[in-house]
Amino acid sequence: MKNYHKEWIKNRVEAFKSIGYMFGESTEDIAKRYGFALQEIAKLDSNENLFIPKNELIKMIQEALLDDFDPRLYPREEARRLINKISNYVKLPTEYITIGNGSDEIMERVTRFALEKGDRAISIAPTFSMYRHAVELQRAKYIEVPLKDDFSLNVKGILSKATPKTKILFICSPNNPTANRFETDDLVYLIDKFPGIVVVDEAYVEFSGGSLAPLVKEFDNLIVLRTFSKAFGLASFRLGYCLASPEISKTLSASIGLPYPVNTLALKVGVKILENVKIMQEAVEKLKIERSRLIEDLRRVNGVYAFDSETNFILIYTQKSAEDVYQGLLSRGIIVKNLGRILKFRNCFRVTVGLPEMNTKLIESLKEILGE
Ligand SMILES: Cc1ncc(COP(=O)(O)O)c(C=O)c1O
Repeated sequence: MKNYHKEWIKNRVEAFKSIGYMFGESTEDIAKRYGFALQEIAKLDSNENLFIPKNELIKMIQEALLDDFDPRLYPREEARRLINKISNYVKLPTEYITIGNGSDEIMERVTRFALEKGDRAISIAPTFSMYRHAVELQRAKYIEVPLKDDFSLNVKGILSKATPKTKILFICSPNNPTANRFETDDLVYLIDKFPGIVVVDEAYVEFSGGSLAPLVKEFDNLIVLRTFSKAFGLASFRLGYCLASPEISKTLSASIGLPYPVNTLALKVGVKILENVKIMQEAVEKLKIERSRLIEDLRRVNGVYAFDSETNFILIYTQKSAEDVYQGLLSRGIIVKNLGRILKFRNCFRVTVGLPEMNTKLIESLKEILGE
C-alpha cells in the first residue's frame, strides 16, 4: 500500500479514537466459547422484543414483498405512506414527523442541527450511550447530570449547568437503563425553562404510556424520538422517527437527512404493523405480565435486588461482584448488559424481559451463581 497521506490519515484516525460504540458479546461467540447451540443462548442484553410473534412479522414481510415491491426503485411513495400511518398513530399532522434509519440516525441529525464545535449538550446519567456519541461527533462537549438516588430528575442541577453554549438537553423517558419514567411535570418544566432543544427519547413509551408527543404543538424546542425497534419488535429493520415543530421537521428531513434514509421493505413493513397495532399492543400486555413475574422471581433470589420497570428490561444489582456474575451467566449461555456501578448501586445489570423459558433459566442461573 502506498503511503502518500500517512500522517494525515493517522491524525484523522486519532481524532475519532475516543468516539465509538461498543457492542456486547455476540451470540455466536458465546455459543462457540461454551459449546452451546445458537438457539440455546438467551440474549438479554439489547432490549429486543421477543413477545411480538416472529411468524406475524415474517407474514407481513412476505406480504410487503408480494405487494407491488420493486427493488429497482427508490423508496418515495412508501415513505409518504408510512408518515401518514405514523400521523394516525401519534395523532399529529404529517408535518411534525421525520422518519429515519433507526432513532440513532435521527439523533445524529438533531445534533448536526443544534450543535457547532465547542457547544455543549447536557444529559442525565446513567442513560443511553448514543447521545454522547452523537454529541461528540459534532465536536461538542457532553455534560452529565446524575439522577437522584431514587432515579428522579435533578431538575435544578440540569438547569444550573445550562450556559449560552448549551444547545441540547437529552432525556430518555422511560430511561435506559433505570427503567423508570420521569414525572411529566418535571419534563414540562425543563422544556419550558431550558434555553435550547430538549430531546425526549420515548423509545420505550409503548411499555409505559404518558407520551409527551402532543406537546410538540406547544413547544418549538421539543423533539420527541420514537422507534420501531422495541415495542414493535422491528430492530432488524432500523426504523425510527421523531416528532417536532414543522420547521424543525422540515430541516431534519429536507436539509440534514439524506434523500432516502429508509429502505422500501422497512417502510412497507412499518405501514403494515401500524395497520395491525393490536399485534404490538397484545405483545406489550403479555410482556408486562412476564415482567411482573420476572421481577418477583428476581426479588426472591438471595443477593439480587430488582428495581421496578416501565420498559421491556429490568435493572438489577447483585451482592456478588458484577464481573463474577456476568461471567457466570455467560458460561450458562445468558448474555446480559454488565453496567457495573450506577449511582450508589454497585454490580448493576440491565436484563431484557425475555420469553418465559429464558427468564426461568436466568433465575436458576442466578441462584446457582449467588450460591443459593
Ligand atoms: C433509549 C434508546 N433510544 C434509542 C435506541 C435505539 O433505537 P433505534 O433502534 O431506533 O436506533 C435504543 C436502543 O436500545 C434506546 O435504548
